[in-house]
Formats: sequence, C-alpha cells, structure tokens
Amino acid sequence: MKTIFSGVQPSGNLHIGNYIGALSQWVKLQEESEAIFCIVDLHAITVPQEPKALREKILEIAALYLAVGIDPAKAHIFIQSENSDHVKLAWVLNTITPFGQLERMTQFKEKGEKHGENVGLFDYPVLMAADILLYQTDEVPVGEDQKQHLELARDLAQKFNSRFGQVFKLPNPLISPSGTARIMSLSDPTKKMSKSDNDPLGTINLLDSEEQIREKIKKAVTDSATHISKDHGSEAISNLLTIYAAFKNQSLESSLSELEGKSYSEFKNLLADLVVSKLSSIQQKYNEIRADENSLMLVLNDGRDFAIEKSQETMKKVLDAVGLGRPIPNH
Ligand code: AMP
Ligand code: TRP
Repeated sequence: MKTIFSGVQPSGNLHIGNYIGALSQWVKLQEESEAIFCIVDLHAITVPQEPKALREKILEIAALYLAVGIDPAKAHIFIQSENSDHVKLAWVLNTITPFGQLERMTQFKEKGEKHGENVGLFDYPVLMAADILLYQTDEVPVGEDQKQHLELARDLAQKFNSRFGQVFKLPNPLISPSGTARIMSLSDPTKKMSKSDNDPLGTINLLDSEEQIREKIKKAVTDSATHISKDHGSEAISNLLTIYAAFKNQSLESSLSELEGKSYSEFKNLLADLVVSKLSSIQQKYNEIRADENSLMLVLNDGRDFAIEKSQETMKKVLDAVGLGRPIPNH
C-alpha cells in the first residue's frame, strides 16, 4: 500500500480552495493508501502568530479534517510539534541543503516581503522535506504552489542516499486535477484564493455562515456577457464553474451542458445553494466534533503515537547512516 502524507498550516481560515484543491482529494486517497495528515504548527510560526489563537486554530483544523470526511479509522491525524523527529531530521537535512536552492524559493520571497524575514521562514522547505521523508512517503497530495518544495524534498532524499547509503524513499507530488489545483479569488480571478487575502469577499471559508456565502457569490466578479455559454471564456466564469463542478462531484463538461443558457444570476443562485448545502453539512459535523473534545483528543493521541512509532524507524537509520550518537541496542 502506498503511503501518502500531507499537511495544512493552522493559520488563517480554511477555505473552499483548500477543500477542493487539497482536503477533498485526501478523503478519496485515504481509501487506497496509508494516509497521514499533519497539522503543521511548526511551519505556522515562521510568520508571527498570536499564541492563544494558534492553539485554537490547531484544534479547529483537526476538527475540520474530520468534518470534511477524513476518517480516523482509515487515516492518521497528528500535530507536527508533538513529534520532535521532524525538527531533528530537519537539522540533519539542513547540513546537506545548498543555500542557493533555498534562496530561489518563491514562497520565501513572497512571505518574506509580506511578513518580514527570519531564518525559520528561510528554512521552511527543509522542515517540509523532513515531514515527508520521515514517513517513507510515496505521494504528497498538494496544490501547484507546493511543487517547488516537493522538488527540494526529492533532491535532498537523493543527495542523502547517495552520500550516506539508501535511507529515504523518493516522494512524488500528486497535484490535483487540472483547474481544481488553483481556485481563484471571487473578487479578483487573477489571484489565487488565499487564507491571507485582505479582501473578505474573495474567499469563501468552510466555516462561513449561509448569509456570508450567499453574499460573496452574489458579489463575485463575472464578465461582460450575461449567460453561460459553451466557450466559458473568462477566468471569472470558469473559476465559478470549476467550483460548481467540484461541489457537484462532476466534470466541468457535464456542469457546462447542465448550465448552458442560464443567466449569470440564475447560475449564481444555483451555485450558492450548492455551496451552502455542502458547507452546512460540513459545519454540522464540525460542531458535533467540537462539542466532544475528548474524542478529538483521542484521535490526536492515536495519530501522534502512530507518527512517533513510524518516524523512529527512519530516524534510527538516519542516525546510524550519519554516525550520530551511540548505537541504539536492538530490543
Ligand atoms: P495553504 O492554504 O497555502 O496552507 O495550503 C493548504 C493546501 O491547500 C495546499 O495543498 C495548497 O496547495 C492547497 N491550496 C491552497 N489554496 C488553494 C487554492 N486557491 N486552490 C487550490 N488549492 C489550494
Ligand atoms: N507547505 C505546505 C503548505 O503551505 C504545508 C506543508 C508542510 C506540507 N509540510 C508539508 C504539505 C508536507 C505537504 C507535505 O501548504
């Protein structure tokens, strides 16, 4: 069985871009693989976070993982900072990471300009490589923006293996189907829908109220046409159609033939009904999970124990290969 690993940072609000591009794919993947889903809190502090809010966000994300359909009987969910092997392996990988390769990372440049630079932000991709390599991961489902980081993880695995002997599996990126890998902002379809968007109208959050969802869809940018046509030319309309198709669980083509000829306002009403109905069922599950914090803690305990046990196998090989510490006696 393949091992898949992915993670989301507990910062900002999870939105329908995260859901369509990442979480909904994870739900499918858990059926056919050993799935490990992490809440990457150590990554989150590479930009300033308010401590109380961060703690709250970690549980919010964990509960949302479950609410969208990740099943703890099939997948493992854990909090990154609860397994110190991530930091340990990141340190070892640091020593074989070329400075220049980190300097070329576009996310570092973007986030550095926005939030100010720090060494953690610079080193972010190495910690991400450690996350992935610790679990001998075969595939990493992520959006397109993470491709560059995945390449680094592969490069570091290869470099380590050729210098110290075979320890790591080479992970492959699993980019979601075309279109869904990049859901755009509703208010500016040239920009990616993003947790850190300053314009609240651009992003539909998984925990938005019905009123907010309807308002955001109503105000979503369209184009100069008035009806849906087969050549859904503009980015704005094609983005809304992609969201519709994803929530309907059908291809873009089937959605198009269903919607062809409808006026934009009719279409927006249908889209709003669809998104409201899907998110309200997610929110209902979310509220149930949050009302039973004990069960959530048990899921996170199990995930942590599984993660530590599995990562220790890799870490032992790493320490042996590099010559760190003393030999660990077999028991
Ligand atoms: P982030 O919100 O950047 O922490 O990303 C969490 C996961 O969601 C990653 O796998 C991203 O690639 C994916 N993702 C983030 N924003 C979008 C988007 N607008 N469309 C599709 N996938 C996204
Ligand atoms: N960098 C990823 C993001 O911002 C989050 C992440 C951290 C991750 N470690 C990972 C994703 C390991 C996949 C695998 O979306």
